[in-house]
Formats: sequence, structure tokens, C-alpha cells
Amino acid sequence: MAPRWVAGVMAAAVMAVAAVIALDNGLARTPPMGWLHWERFLCGTDCADHPSRCVSEQLFVEMADRMAAEGWRDAGYEFLCIDDCWMAPTRDGQGRLRADPERFPGGIRRLADYVHSKGLKLGIYSDVGSKTCAGFPGSYGHYELDAQTFASWGVDLLKFDGCNSGSLEQLAEGYRRMSLALNKTGRSIVYACEWPFYLRPMHQPNYTEIKQYCNHWRNFNDVYDSWNSIKSILEWTALHQDSIVKIAGPGGWNDPDMLVIGNFGLSWDQSVTQMAMWAIMAAPLFMSNDLRHISPEAKCLLQNKEVIAINQDPLGRQGYQILKDKTFELWERPLSGRAYAVAVLNQQEIGGPQNFTFSLTFLGNGLACNPACSVRQVLPASRDWGVYSWTSFLSVEVNPTGTVLLKVLAL
Ligand SMILES: *[C@@H]1O[C@H](CO)[C@@H](O)[C@H](O)[C@H]1NC(C)=O
Ligand SMILES: *[C@@H]1O[C@H](CO)[C@@H](O)[C@H](O)[C@H]1NC(C)=O
Ligand SMILES: *[C@@H]1O[C@H](CO)[C@@H](O)[C@H](O)[C@H]1NC(C)=O
Repeated sequence: MAPRWVAGVMAAAVMAVAAVIALDNGLARTPPMGWLHWERFLCGTDCADHPSRCVSEQLFVEMADRMAAEGWRDAGYEFLCIDDCWMAPTRDGQGRLRADPERFPGGIRRLADYVHSKGLKLGIYSDVGSKTCAGFPGSYGHYELDAQTFASWGVDLLKFDGCNSGSLEQLAEGYRRMSLALNKTGRSIVYACEWPFYLRPMHQPNYTEIKQYCNHWRNFNDVYDSWNSIKSILEWTALHQDSIVKIAGPGGWNDPDMLVIGNFGLSWDQSVTQMAMWAIMAAPLFMSNDLRHISPEAKCLLQNKEVIAINQDPLGRQGYQILKDKTFELWERPLSGRAYAVAVLNQQEIGGPQNFTFSLTFLGNGLACNPACSVRQVLPASRDWGVYSWTSFLSVEVNPTGTVLLKVLAL
């Protein structure tokens, strides 16, 4: 048989594991999972005209109810996270941040209590600079006070944005100082950074340092509800995998941004691709969608236990692209228990399903299927493929812009 990959480009077959020390707060041992309002609800502040879509206590109470009642929490989606635009336009008389009194009439403390009563955790948002990206008060000059305020409210995660941060040194110093301030509160608070994203245009990020201060960090543009956006995130990740993959591990993760499955922009195959590739990338899984209006198909995909188990694999190694051949990409992620997750992605945006054939010796630097292995398809639907030997080829049929996710277990 003439393997189709010969014209392809072999990328780094094996990623070394770096001994990088993670932020010492005991959190995010696997990628955090939850819901974040930004991509779907943006900066909706007009509750008079759009009561069910504005950033308000009501929105988060309704999402908490769904997360607890409809299987989301039990599938692992634990954090309910507020993004930008929750604040009043000014601080209070003592200089503390406060929630917009009309949209959050009970304040954040009451919301946190409600969220905790549902067995969930609450995430909040602030910014390292003088103003948030949407122009609300930023934490610059108030890092300790804001950390104390969040802790006193019972907040469990902080997404810390990087708009309006001044110099590069102020950006770095702000991210470090907030990390130390959160630690000083004594409360366990996951710290989600955008430090490398804001640094990168000017300066190569020092990921060793970033991992010492942050539990996960954004590297690239905000996700949009479109295939172009998902594609650009995957391209960026493959292009930079030599520097970012080895850094990820228990306590610190690369964050390719929210899951947009269940919205308007992705087809079924593209939704499968996002879910499969976010599992391969050991990405934090924060959905941004409307859990009050979501299709059964999207719900089933987002709650798929086998994919979530791959995402949450305790070995905590991020996957990487091992080869690209015309429109096909082959990715693998080493898992615990001598297993590999393998994704075959078809980037072709014309025509119908295509077969991609590759040798099992490609996987795990030749060790994934040695001397034999069982192969199970996880997505788009679960199915056992049976036992293969080391010299076998696999032929995988993939729809345009779709992905087939497999689990290969050495025997
Ligand atoms: C604060 O940091 C110390 C030392 O790095 C660590 O032992 C402790 O658990 C941290 N506390 C919190 C609340 O993160
Ligand atoms: C990156 O940060 C680490 C930890 O702070 C430090 O030891 C190392 O020297 C830094 N590397 C560079 C190239 O600056
Ligand atoms: C892919 O290969 C399988 C098995 O060899 C075959 O049944 C199927 O028709 C092929 N699909 C395409 C689109 O060529």
C-alpha cells in the first residue's frame, strides 16, 4: 500500500516534558471546566430592553440552576464565571470594587452563596490595568484590596485581563502582584491570566515564569463563534507547539479560550472538531453558550464522558500535531495507562468525506501500538475498531472540517 502521507510534513514527533514548577495553590490539577459569559453575552448592560440577555444576577442564577439540574455540574463543569461589565462604573467610598447595583441587586456575595448552594464555584473578572477592556474600573493600584474583596465575597476563580496595562514591566508586575495578593487572602482562587497574549506582540513570553504565577493563560485572540476563529486558534497552536506544549501540566495550562459549541457559527462537524481538539490540547473547558436554549446534540457533545476523560487525563500532558498532509492533520496526546488520544482533522472545505491512511508506527514515536493495540473511536460517535498490530495502517474517513477522535491503548 502506498501511504498517502509521504508528501506530508513531519513535525516534532515527541514533545519533551519540562520540569516547570506550577503555581503553588494546589488548584487546576486538571484543566478547569465551567461556563463563562463573554463570547455569548458580551457586555450586555441593557436589562430594560433585554432582561434575559444582560450581564446580571438573574443570568447567573439561571445558568447555575441549569448547570446543577441538567447534568453540566455532574459532567465536570464546575465554575460559573462572570466576565467583563459586572461592575458599577466607580469604586465605593472605601475604594472597593462593587457590582452594578441595578443588575446585581444582591451583590456578588449573595450570588456566590447561591452558586455554592448548587454545588458550583463562582468566577469573577478584573483587569491588571487602570480600566477593564470595556472601560470599567481596573485593578491597577488596588491589587491587594481587590484580592481581599474577591476572597471576602467567596469567589473561587479570577480571570485577570490585560487591557490598559501601561508598560510591559507594569503588565508583568501586575500579574505577579495579583497572584501574590490572591495567595495572601488564604482562599483557594484559581488564577486565569492573559499575560502572554498581551506580552507577545512585543516580547517572547517566559512561560516558566508565567506558570509559577498563573493556573492557566491565554496566548492568542479571543474565540469567536465561527469556524475561521477555531481554525486560526488551531493553526496558531500548531505553529507555536514547540514552545507551549511542554509547559502545560498539572497546575498550569495553555488556554485556547472558550468552547462556542451550542451557539450559531459552527456546523456539527466543526463542533466535533472543537470538542476533540480542546481535549487534545488539554484546554480549560469553559463553555460560552446559553444553557437555557441549547440543542440536545450540542448538550450531548459537551457532556460526552469519554472526551471529557481525555481532556481531564491525570497525566496532564498537552497533545501536539505530528503531521500535516495536504488538508489532513494528525494530532496525538499521551494519556495515562499507556494510551494515546489521536485526532485526525480534515481541513478541506469542499467536497465530501475523505479517507486518511497512516501507519500506527507514527503514533507515540512508534510506541503507541507496540506490539499491538486496541483502537476505539470516541468522536463523532463511539465505536470499537478492534485490535491492530504495530505494522498496521489505519484508514480514517473524516468529513470536511470534521475530526475523528480515537483512543489507542497499547496491549
Ligand atoms: C500560598 O503560597 C504558599 C507557598 O508558595 C503555599 O504553600 C500556599 O498553599 C498558598 N496559599 C494559597 C491560598 O494559595
Ligand atoms: C524565565 O523565568 C525563570 C523563572 O523566573 C528564570 O529563572 C529564567 O531565567 C527566565 N528566563 C529568561 C530567558 O529570562
Ligand atoms: C474509506 O475507506 C473505507 C474502507 O477502506 C471505505 O469503505 C470507504 O468507502 C472509504 N471512503 C471514502 C470517502 O473513500
